[in-house]
Amino acid sequence: MSTTTIALPEKSQYFIDLENQYGAHNYHPIPVVLNKGQGVFLWDVEGKRYYDFLSGYSAVNQGHCHPKIIQALIEQAGKLTLTSRAFHNDLLGEYEKYITAYFGYDKVLPMNTGVEGGETAIKLARRWAYVKKGVAENKAKVIFAENNFWGRTMAAISSSTDPSSYRQFGPFMPGFELVPYNDLASLEKALQDPNVAAFMVEPIQGEAGVVVPDEGYLKGVRDLCTQYNVLFIADEIQTGLARTGKMLACDHENVRPDILILGKALSGGALPVSAVLADDFIMLNIHPGEHGSTYGGNPLACAVAIAALQVLKEEKMAEKAEEMGQLLRAELAKLNSPFIKLIRGKGLLNAIVIDHPNKEAAWDLCLHLKDEGLLAKPTHGDKIRFAPPLIITGEQILECVGNIGKCLDKLA
Ligand SMILES: Cc1ncc(COP(=O)(O)O)c(C=O)c1O
Repeated sequence: MSTTTIALPEKSQYFIDLENQYGAHNYHPIPVVLNKGQGVFLWDVEGKRYYDFLSGYSAVNQGHCHPKIIQALIEQAGKLTLTSRAFHNDLLGEYEKYITAYFGYDKVLPMNTGVEGGETAIKLARRWAYVKKGVAENKAKVIFAENNFWGRTMAAISSSTDPSSYRQFGPFMPGFELVPYNDLASLEKALQDPNVAAFMVEPIQGEAGVVVPDEGYLKGVRDLCTQYNVLFIADEIQTGLARTGKMLACDHENVRPDILILGKALSGGALPVSAVLADDFIMLNIHPGEHGSTYGGNPLACAVAIAALQVLKEEKMAEKAEEMGQLLRAELAKLNSPFIKLIRGKGLLNAIVIDHPNKEAAWDLCLHLKDEGLLAKPTHGDKIRFAPPLIITGEQILECVGNIGKCLDKLA
């Protein structure tokens, strides 16, 4: 973690000091204080404009404050925001019908944050294992891939291989096992255990630094899960919703997971909305009182999610992500920088891996980028995700890559 202190304008420093004094120190943000977003742009409190190359970790695929999503939010906020699930509301069913048809599943279970979606998927899989697969009570196992990231709850960190996630937070959730990512032979070995309920995996590992598996991996996962009667849970919270150039990253290999987890861009960045989709043979094993959330399926979230999903299709965002992603990677490659070890990604979910003797180089590069009007953040020290909103144009990509090149030169 960088210890470099940089001089900031007074106003920005004021807000950063407030956070430092009164907030928990559980994040290490780039030193910029934002107060406005529109489309691909963010503005800081001094009025400086930036390209957003993180998109709220892919929550803002549709662009900041998309007018259609904000209109749905405002209209619904003036009518009814929350009933809890103690009562029915007139939007939940409409939303459930819409999203299940959109992705082709029998049922949806609405939650709020992404990590709650992951927790829900695991509960569904464990219940299915006991009720349908015949696993003995409390023996169900869930397999994860090494270097996964699906959040910060006790269950999520119990499957983590990253010490900064799990260190000194134990004891951990039992019944979780790990296999290497992108390794079908190891997966097959693990799935042979008859107590395995599910394999939960990101189609591309986002937080790990946009790790794209070999072509055929997802198809292999699907086939193995079918062969061993194990549920395939796809965590598409970061990869889904047009980000990688298809509506779902699983669509690249035409595979259909048994349980699909969505979040982030399901609200276009307006509020936390997540969803778990599955067919009846999985979903109907959960009965009233066995799972839920006060805010899950609230009318405000339903109205916003319908609008967010409509926007993705109406504005052909998957196609745009595919086209702009190819341009971005090609232009980055043309920079031919000695400090870029690797460029990888799919659609507009991309990362570069920095090669530099200074361990802080990726952080320093992000500070230079900030000065040039582009916001990005390193992950795991040497990787920088480049994931702008999917509405970015070719001209804007060229301008941004030009600035990235200038900043890379400053590392010399
Ligand atoms: C793949 C994946 N799953 C789950 C999550 C957790 O989502 P949330 O932070 O909304 O709980 C994330 C967050 O970055 C993620 O990238």
